[in-house]
Amino acid sequence: MVAVCFVCLGNICRSPTAEGVFLHLLAERGWTDRVRVDSAGTAGYHVGHRPDPRSLAAAARRGIELPSRARRFEAEDLARFDLVLAMDAENLADLRAMARDEAEAARVRLFREFDPASGEGAEVPDPYYGGEDGFETVLDLCFAAAEGLLDELGPRLAP
Ligand code: 4NP
Repeated sequence: MVAVCFVCLGNICRSPTAEGVFLHLLAERGWTDRVRVDSAGTAGYHVGHRPDPRSLAAAARRGIELPSRARRFEAEDLARFDLVLAMDAENLADLRAMARDEAEAARVRLFREFDPASGEGAEVPDPYYGGEDGFETVLDLCFAAAEGLLDELGPRLAP
């Protein structure tokens, strides 16, 4: 089984959205039991909280549930997941700094790397302090990257 963890700063906006979108696409393909999916934050401000109401509402408008409750990413998680997918460069640097060796560091990637239409270093921008449209953008970017991720993982998941 492949294990994927999506990571942002607070684990209440971007990474829960990425997790929900990826779970939604896996379910569409009947692959839910082939991938372990989780999310976490590099910061602990919102530990135990459900996703931001604005993220929940934007996802619900597209028929997507966000099942997560915020937790903080811990160094041990780098040994528990095959892919640790950062939403932005700051998350990426914070996660790589926790790696104990090259193999762990190599599991940490930018999520948007998997979107074939994105450029190098592309990020999912933090919507927390902005307006509603930022949450729609997060969903659009998560869909594009999650589709790319599924295409890449497909050969490992298909029967
Ligand atoms: P996220 O957004 O990293 O996408 O979950 C944020 C949520 C909370 C805060 C910052 C970003 N905060 O500063 O509390």
